[in-house]
Amino acid sequence: MENFSVNNNGNLAINGCDTVELAKQYSTPLYVLNENMIRQACKSYKDAIAKYYDGRGLACYASKALNCLEICRIIQDEGLGLDVVSEGELYTAIKSGFKTENIHFHGNNKTDDELIMALDNNVGTIVVDNLFEMQKLDKLAKQKDCVANISLRIKPGIDAHTHDYIRTGQIDSKFGFALETGEAFEAVKNAIELKNINLKELHCHIGSQIFDVYPFVLASQVMMDFIAKIRDELNYTIENLNLGGGFGIKYVDKDNPKPYELYIKEIANAIKIKAKENNLPLPYLFVEPGRSIVGEAGITLYKVGSVKTIPDVRTYISVDGGMTDNIRYALYRSDYKAIIANKASMPASNIVTIAGKCCESGDLIQENANIQSPEVGDILAVFSTGAYNYSMASNYNRIRRPAMVMVKDGKSRVIIKRESLDDLIKNDI
Ligand code: LLP
Repeated sequence: MENFSVNNNGNLAINGCDTVELAKQYSTPLYVLNENMIRQACKSYKDAIAKYYDGRGLACYASKALNCLEICRIIQDEGLGLDVVSEGELYTAIKSGFKTENIHFHGNNKTDDELIMALDNNVGTIVVDNLFEMQKLDKLAKQKDCVANISLRIKPGIDAHTHDYIRTGQIDSKFGFALETGEAFEAVKNAIELKNINLKELHCHIGSQIFDVYPFVLASQVMMDFIAKIRDELNYTIENLNLGGGFGIKYVDKDNPKPYELYIKEIANAIKIKAKENNLPLPYLFVEPGRSIVGEAGITLYKVGSVKTIPDVRTYISVDGGMTDNIRYALYRSDYKAIIANKASMPASNIVTIAGKCCESGDLIQENANIQSPEVGDILAVFSTGAYNYSMASNYNRIRRPAMVMVKDGKSRVIIKRESLDDLIKNDI
């Protein structure tokens, strides 16, 4: 992987820090994040919007990928907005001092409490998923004597060829209003009529881990045509267009992600053409990258506790974490690349299955991983674990969630403490 190196000790290094030393200092399992890479990814979206869309837009980091106080601070410092999907993510953002006007609040079943929290804290945009929510929000805003700025989540009907579970733009999805059935148009009409909501934006999100630029271009075109229809038939101008996230990253060598600025360039181009064609003002543009901001910046370090070869079957190496800190292989059969950090300069020619420590046969990090010759006590590093690992972690088997360390120019600091045994029982009565 490009942003890691092998140091003079033959160990894997990340942003100037020896990973074997990090494992010793902070113990394992350990999430390690490269701050420079996170900041660089933020900049690439910001610069691309400046370059290709005259700065008339904002990338809002989708914090479901990884949400904690320090990440929120870095995102704000880089001038990005934020996407949250729960009171927990919103609470974290507020506690970090995040400007709430730059927050989009998503979710297909926001509770009354969540909507009230959003209204009380002047969240910039509430992305309405369905009619029940629209009516509920209008009523709550009326009670508070305010007007809520909203976006409507639209299903543009685009199949982005990704894993079924992470494809959200097509008609059979629990998210949003369908375009092709007329449901979305009816929702717009409804929203315009309601007094305590202000429809400013249309939103779509076509899936995740997409390498192809074309589905985003298609989504831009479909959404712009819909904005034109709304103007023509309802004499109403939608000011903002939000195209969601989904920009693919590198997990394994065969992955070949495009530079993020290319997506923005092509999206901007498509929007401009459609605006001209339909004589529409250029909408303010939002995108919501999550994985591509933090994914490749993260690695997980584990200690190998056993190496078990079953003749003619396979070799299992068991690590001191597993599906509790990274459930993505168990859930999606996601590819990951791993390396033995203390043997980083040695050739990788051992095919192994990396197993976790849960009482669950499916608790695997990867099957058929090609790594250096494994021994008990080795430090195993798994790449590209910055997104959807900590945020999807659990306490199954009462396993404690790992600590997270941020590294920057050879220095490291803890940004999330390792859970303690007392943390595990703190809500037990
Ligand atoms: N915006 C919306 C409305 C979304 O639903 C998502 C992701 C994003 C933005 C960010 O997408 P990204 O840029 O990260 O691809 N747990 C799955 C991923 C689920 C993504 C759900 N929505 C995984 O581990 O692959």
